[in-house]
Amino acid sequence: MIRRIAVNTGGGDAPGLNAVIRAVAISAMGRGWEVLGIRYGYRGLIEDDPAGVVSLDRNSVRGIHHLGGTILGSTNRGDPFRYPMMKDGQLVPTDVSGKVIRRLEELGVDALVAIGGDGSIKLSAKLLERGLPRVIAVPKTIDNDLSGTDQTFGFDTAVATATEAIDKLHTTAQAHERVMVVEVMGRHAGWIALYSGIAGGADVVLIPELPFDIERVCDKIRWREVMNRRFAIVVVAEGATEVGGAAVFKEGAGQFKEHGQLGGIAERVAHEIQLRTGKETRSIVLGHLQRGGSPVMTDRVLALRLGCAATRFIADTTTSGLVAIRGNAIQLVPIADGTARIRTVPLDSDVLLTGRQLGICFGDEQPESFEPSLTPPPPSLPPYRVFKGGPA
Ligand code: F6P
Repeated sequence: MIRRIAVNTGGGDAPGLNAVIRAVAISAMGRGWEVLGIRYGYRGLIEDDPAGVVSLDRNSVRGIHHLGGTILGSTNRGDPFRYPMMKDGQLVPTDVSGKVIRRLEELGVDALVAIGGDGSIKLSAKLLERGLPRVIAVPKTIDNDLSGTDQTFGFDTAVATATEAIDKLHTTAQAHERVMVVEVMGRHAGWIALYSGIAGGADVVLIPELPFDIERVCDKIRWREVMNRRFAIVVVAEGATEVGGAAVFKEGAGQFKEHGQLGGIAERVAHEIQLRTGKETRSIVLGHLQRGGSPVMTDRVLALRLGCAATRFIADTTTSGLVAIRGNAIQLVPIADGTARIRTVPLDSDVLLTGRQLGICFGDEQPESFEPSLTPPPPSLPPYRVFKGGPA
């Protein structure tokens, strides 16, 4: 018999988190359950802070479905198995998972709804092993790279933001006849780059799944020049690599991120393009803009569906699991499914093929070449195409 559940949000935020919290809270209250919110991942249970756990009543989740961020706060430094605790004047990674489990027990929590990405999902699985009675994990990440589920909320919003930015870059690139290289997020998956690149009419899209040859990228830019299209838009995923090269990480970011922070590939690509083609080239990193703002309609609906499904599974089953969307059906799958592997862009994906057929250069040896060869335009073609504000 369920009386009380708790909810938390961990890892990098994604638009739609508040919609999940609202759906969990309202649907739980509808069943007569009490709902607690844990602040900042598990931190609210670890630190002796009276405001670390809050009661989520109807008023506290009113009007939040369209807000970005999370009303509960989040952190990607709240691993209870390696929590930084002060010892002899130094912060030492300490296993405080026992405290987390004890606190939830003291609070009378029958099930925890843990909303998070791969790191948080792995933590839920470990806490279950250590004795936490029940966890329903709700997958989230703008990167859309979790296995076990077909889509994560936050992705559509991130793509919409990136697409809008690419639209804007088109006008300034065309005005100055420059190459603009725009770096988007996605870690080691190219979903955001691929979708925003296609939607934004990019000329080149570089994704981690297809190591690129910078000369092929430059060829595409030279070809455009020959065709009198004297500007170009290059979208590069933060985790993209050159053939035989390695991913680019930001220097000095290790203090806060154990596995480093991706960043800097756009600048490198821009530098090479300018050097090799002589075209003036600028780079821009969209960064956390992609995580901010109001979730788009599809992310809101997905998030609300996942939140309601979480409480339905708590009521209708006795197990733990991950709330996944497969096809258009919501299912409870084993938690480990969510982190079994990184869901990258399949090389035979229809979206990738669409990009190729549209003439987008992926910087690779194309298995099917739809890209025009580097021959000058036939004389029948008009020498110049007037740019009307959209991608050309
Ligand atoms: O996983 C989501 C994500 O936004 C990635 O796309 C990006 O690499 C990373 O998080 C950035 O993390 P942070 O907020 O720690 O800089």
